[in-house]
Amino acid sequence: MRKKFVAGNWKMHTTRQTAISLAQELVTAIGQETAVDVAICPPFPYLLPVREVLSESCIALGAQNVHPEPQGAFTGEVSPVMLRDCGCHWVIVGHSERRRGLGESHEFIRRKLLAAVQHGLQVILCIGETKSERDAGQTLTIVRAQLEDSLPALKAEQLAHVVLAYEPVWAIGTGVNATPEQAQEVHAWVRAWLGAHFGSKLAETLRILYGGSVNSANAASLLAQPDIDGVLVGGASLKASEFLAIIQAAKC
Ligand code: 13P
Repeated sequence: MRKKFVAGNWKMHTTRQTAISLAQELVTAIGQETAVDVAICPPFPYLLPVREVLSESCIALGAQNVHPEPQGAFTGEVSPVMLRDCGCHWVIVGHSERRRGLGESHEFIRRKLLAAVQHGLQVILCIGETKSERDAGQTLTIVRAQLEDSLPALKAEQLAHVVLAYEPVWAIGTGVNATPEQAQEVHAWVRAWLGAHFGSKLAETLRILYGGSVNSANAASLLAQPDIDGVLVGGASLKASEFLAIIQAAKC
């Protein structure tokens, strides 16, 4: 039985004060939640103040990006060692806003994934197709390429530190979520791919989240699908009541 996982990606939102307040609201409401795994990923500058707020709670801290090298002359980058030092448990790798928006290559994403896992971080690895790719019937081809270019870099035991997030690019921030059936179809295919490449045990245990316009109104139907093990939430994670309702939906 895979435990449901709800993660909030705050992207480039909040201020120091609103980040602290949002985290405080979540801790007050669900600080000791154990039925569902919960993580929040604030912007880098707010990791430490949010970590203070989360310290006595079961809500885990995550970062939105990482550089593959542990230190060095990489202006503006943040290393996996630094993220661990700041109390991060999770890191998001391969988000489409970085793959497509910032031109991150498969190879760079693979290096980030490997470095993050080697330094003890749990990785949320994002995959997903654009609208034109879906319209051209290439969804599974794109998703397969993203999986093939990243996961085989890891040893079997390292794969236990990875959660996948299927985030169709056309559903991110658009208000148009994938239907539960569309998401389930891809999730089931990904799980079969995992089974074929890494064995049935890993396929049964590795969690696959859905992301893209998840909100309190659509979360329950998405989470009711057999291969949707949680959600990666953008906009709706910035409002405590919305995010809490999504967590509630994951408990049912
Ligand atoms: P939205 O929930 O705002 O569509 O963002 C999804 C996402 O990109 C999470 O990583």
